[in-house]
Amino acid sequence: MKKLIIMYVAAILFATQVGIALAMLDGNPRKGRFLYRQECRPCHMDNPIHEMKEFHAEYLGPDSKRQAEWIEVLENKEQLPCFEHWKEISQEDLNDIFTYLHGGAADSPTPERCG
Ligand code: HEC
Repeated sequence: MKKLIIMYVAAILFATQVGIALAMLDGNPRKGRFLYRQECRPCHMDNPIHEMKEFHAEYLGPDSKRQAEWIEVLENKEQLPCFEHWKEISQEDLNDIFTYLHGGAADSPTPERCG
């Protein structure tokens, strides 16, 4: 019985987590594209232009991941090495950014490279 309750609670927690992540992907992808270029791309490009060049990452754009992977990133964003640098980005802007990334994912109908 105890095991059943734990499983039930775990299932609810999981469902709300996925629900929250999906609910977040209703932003404005065009605005998200603009924000991604402003907030993320300076580090996530082959020749970074961010002032913290030593902390740069390789190319990352919508087509770098599949839709399910973008949702996973969003759900576990606190674990990303660069999460500290997102603190200034509002929840609404993050929603737009992830709507853009998810919408142009490699397995989406419209894969998009952030060129
Ligand atoms: C100050 C530089 C910097 C900024 C700004 C930045 N990142 Fe990162 N990011 C990194 C570094 C460094 C890593 C770790 C190296 C790597 O994974 O290439 C990383 C890792 C990641 C990863 C994991 C890598 C992978 O391929 O799964 C994701 C996803 C990511 N960042 C997304 C973002 C998003 C979205 C934004 C904007 C909201 C952002 N980053 C802003 C530097 C940055």
